[in-house]
Amino acid sequence: MNDGGQRRYGPLGEVLVIIPTYNEAENIKPVVARVRAAVPAAHVLVADDNSPDGTGKFADEIAAEDDHVHVLHRRGKEGLGAAYLAGFRWGIERGYGVLVEMDADGSHRPEELPRLLTALKGADLVLGSRWVPGGRIVNWPKSREFISRGGSLYSRVLLDVPIRDVTGGYRAFRRETLEGLGLHDVASAGYCFQVDLARRAVAAGFNVVEVPITFVEREAGDSKMSRDILVEALWRVTAWGLTARAEKAGRFLGRAAGRGKPRSGR
Ligand code: GDD
Ligand code: MN
Repeated sequence: MNDGGQRRYGPLGEVLVIIPTYNEAENIKPVVARVRAAVPAAHVLVADDNSPDGTGKFADEIAAEDDHVHVLHRRGKEGLGAAYLAGFRWGIERGYGVLVEMDADGSHRPEELPRLLTALKGADLVLGSRWVPGGRIVNWPKSREFISRGGSLYSRVLLDVPIRDVTGGYRAFRRETLEGLGLHDVASAGYCFQVDLARRAVAAGFNVVEVPITFVEREAGDSKMSRDILVEALWRVTAWGLTARAEKAGRFLGRAAGRGKPRSGR
């Protein structure tokens, strides 16, 4: 994780803020306006899964008046992970240098984006973090905090990733980082997508930096968190953890067996 300040980082390039949406009709206009005000040079891509409440149509209305705003209309609800993968591809194809993940509901305050981008000047990946000193949450029910903290702790221990907020969804990636994560075989659909990308970034040796954020619970619309999303996260994280441990044990046994063999004569 820590490169001891040895590495040189290139300039950031153009910024694309990807906002996945499913039924965020009340939130989409305010959040896009806040992003545009906070980082006027950035572009915004709304990745909408054909929301029944017309979110996609509202996004089109914004895009018609603002050439920094784009809309990716997707067939139907396929999960946060699939929407982000499509958004990353869209942005990489068009040459953006920085790809940002942000929720549509105002939980990730656009006003904090400049701080994330500043941190990215000296990092491969910046995570907005609720669980580092200075991080805060506002209006989250205790039950949700418990699930999130528990999920982060479970993932951190089992996957051996030195990250406090491993499930968070407010992130800034350099394009080279995304290109180095092997995204072609990501199967995570729900919120474990975030854990998946974090563990890949650590495994690939990228410099991952956590920046404290204030996470504000949505006021309008509903969370898409569900039992299915929780179950997927639990089984996938457990499977990744066990596989990594089995591989480690395999390597250890391989080395031990190697030591036991007589040296080839020379
Ligand atoms: N396109 C698309 N398709 N967007 C989706 C889908 C989907 O299937 N499911 C959720 N989203 C969008 C929502 O519209 C919102 O913009 C964002 O993804 C996050 O969804 P929320 O429903 O607001 O998530 P949350 O508040 O319960 O969860 C928060 O905590 C999770 C765990 O820490 C978020 O910060 C998540 O990013 C985070 O993983
Ligand atoms: Mn939310």
